[in-house]
Amino acid sequence: MSEKQVVKYRVTGNVAVISIDNPPVNALGPGVREGIIDALAQGNADSAVEAFVLIGEGRNFMAGADIRQFGGVRPVSTRTSAAAIDASAKPVVAAICGYALGGGLEHALACHYRISTPEAKVGLPEVLLGIVPGGGGTQRLTHLVGPEAALDIITTGRHVGAYEAQRIGIIDEIVDEPDFLAASVRFAARVAIVKPLPRAHLLSEKIEQAGDQALAFDDARKFHTRKSRHQKAPMHAIALIEAAVKGSFEEGLALEQTLFAELENSEEAKALRYAFFAEREAAKIPGASNVPKPEPVSSAAVIGAGTMGSGIAMAFADVGTPVKLLDVTHEALDKGMKRIRDNYAVSVKRGSISQSEMDARLAKIQGVVDYADISDCDAVIEAVFERVDLKQAIFRKLDDVMKPGALLLSNSSAIDIDIMAQATKRPADVAGAHFFAPANVMKLCEVVRGTQTAPATIARTMKMARDLGKIGAVAGSCDGFVANRSRTSLMTEMMLMLEEGAMPEQVDRILVAFGYPMGFFAVNDMSGLDVSYEGRQRRAAADPSYRKLHVPDRLVEMGRKGQKTGAGWYRYKDGDRTPHPDDLVKEVIASVAREFGIAQRTFSDEEILHRLLFASVNEACRILDEGRAYRASDIDVMWLYGFGFPRHRGGLMYWADTIGAAPIHRQVTEWHERYGKRWEPSPLLARVAESGTRLRDAGPQS
Ligand code: 3HC
Repeated sequence: MSEKQVVKYRVTGNVAVISIDNPPVNALGPGVREGIIDALAQGNADSAVEAFVLIGEGRNFMAGADIRQFGGVRPVSTRTSAAAIDASAKPVVAAICGYALGGGLEHALACHYRISTPEAKVGLPEVLLGIVPGGGGTQRLTHLVGPEAALDIITTGRHVGAYEAQRIGIIDEIVDEPDFLAASVRFAARVAIVKPLPRAHLLSEKIEQAGDQALAFDDARKFHTRKSRHQKAPMHAIALIEAAVKGSFEEGLALEQTLFAELENSEEAKALRYAFFAEREAAKIPGASNVPKPEPVSSAAVIGAGTMGSGIAMAFADVGTPVKLLDVTHEALDKGMKRIRDNYAVSVKRGSISQSEMDARLAKIQGVVDYADISDCDAVIEAVFERVDLKQAIFRKLDDVMKPGALLLSNSSAIDIDIMAQATKRPADVAGAHFFAPANVMKLCEVVRGTQTAPATIARTMKMARDLGKIGAVAGSCDGFVANRSRTSLMTEMMLMLEEGAMPEQVDRILVAFGYPMGFFAVNDMSGLDVSYEGRQRRAAADPSYRKLHVPDRLVEMGRKGQKTGAGWYRYKDGDRTPHPDDLVKEVIASVAREFGIAQRTFSDEEILHRLLFASVNEACRILDEGRAYRASDIDVMWLYGFGFPRHRGGLMYWADTIGAAPIHRQVTEWHERYGKRWEPSPLLARVAESGTRLRDAGPQS
């Protein structure tokens, strides 16, 4: 594509329209910045032109720099093209529809006026990619909105809606007219004669009004020392906003360039860029390219008003989709509805939603006890206990009552989808929609395909997940599917290392140092040790070779079920949630070790981390080899959104590549010799180690 084609130039009356035409999102790919500079030069040299409109073709203004180009050479920087706009002798009006993000918003900020549609969204999401804005955005935004709003917008990277953007001073006017371009041209013609041009970096009112912001910068630094411990970008962003307040525009721009350059190729930025594309890749379903665009799920039903069922119903209500919650007895239903009301009431109390919002969401959820009442729903999600016979009976009923074409979904976390599918005469319509607790909060929805699930069913379930604000990723059906199956190995090693002498507080400290917000033992105390106890007992009863996890079993049997009983892996003082290491746990660990003749020893931090994560890497390789996941990056997406894996480490398999398949394979082989079968190296891991390729690119054929 020639450079001129991505930027179009035409003159209507006395206004030159510069439009960006670089699908799908008008990123600042090759030729865009150059095209803008050329168009400005052309218009400024044309005496018939008195003003410009800068607009995006299609749905968006501009989504920012082309993320694929980071790390490479850019002939023209965003800073340069933004400076050309700023310096234009004739006014430039940014006409924003859809998204103006990153470098896109930076171009808009350099314009002399910004107008938008009511639906437009703006933001500087660079910190989410491990960098800071590099096109003058940190400086111009601070001048326009003041340091407090700039700190919020730049350090969170959040999208700001048009009305909020207008209120804080980013947008001058919101235009609610069908022909946005025509309205933008009229606006430009109107402001053509206004002199001097309002240039964002020359405005100082908001900065002066804010006065001494030393405290606000201090608070922001303290907050990010805790929240973004492993990331430099938010701290650099704070320094840049401070520079905008304290120094000249030129000094601020120079610092922005330095810090941008420092971050662009940092490990943090590379991992975050990988995560960005991994998430988008997960949405692609092999074999579904000929499937028609999936219809949205406009009404849903959830079977089972337990914790998961209630959470899933809330997830639908939260996005305004009507949902019927079905349970067999009025009593069970009432309990579920009460749980939902209580959850929403907590959100109202915290101020995250208003009372009227709570009422509106509750009105979307209708409790029913009769299957006939759900027959016309577009999708039904079964979320009852993990009992095969119960699930089969439910799917038989669903087959009888649901309208043709409805999605028949199961929230099972382990049971083979084919078993449910076979209970129906429409196995092609059956799939898994495995939500993670709490279902209204956690972002991952693992979409499980059975052997007969139609690609159209997968595509529509993925769309449903996306419309719920979730990140969908597809898994093949097997015990534990992909997410839980790959994580179980880690959890098992974590328990077994205790028997060998590691302590919960040491393991937790290492996980927190790695980047998890909390250690897994502390998390387990919050969710309750009894939750997994029952499952282990069932597995042990069914499988004589099952390796029992004695330490957690003993703790549960002693009544130590976690925070709710005042003790679990840690001890809790009255009314306090701070975990305190407990000698009693040490004693339980030592007595289990004595009883089973396991020698106690000390562990280095690295050994603990590697033993935990290598166990899962090895299992993830098995999963890939069996073709249960489409790609390694899908497993990373599951870990990022299902288990809170630190995003700046990219994901399990991305992180594994930073160690290298060959050293991991060597270590796994050694542990196989020492600990036996559970450490048997996956053939795929061996192949990748041998070939010197990357785990993140590995699949069944590699
Ligand atoms: N660069 C390259 N590709 C991009 C892109 C970007 N900035 N933004 C989106 N894309 C691609 C996606 O990878 C996807 O490609 P695919 O179809 O091949 O998978 C396609 O565009 C559509 O993207 P989404 O599926 O995400 O579309 P949505 O409509 O759901 O979302 C969006 C649109 C909100 C714009 C979202 O794509 C997004 O958040 N993009 C990233 C925005 C961003 O982070 N911008 C800052 C970049 S850094 C920067 O500007 C530096 C500057 O300061 C110098």
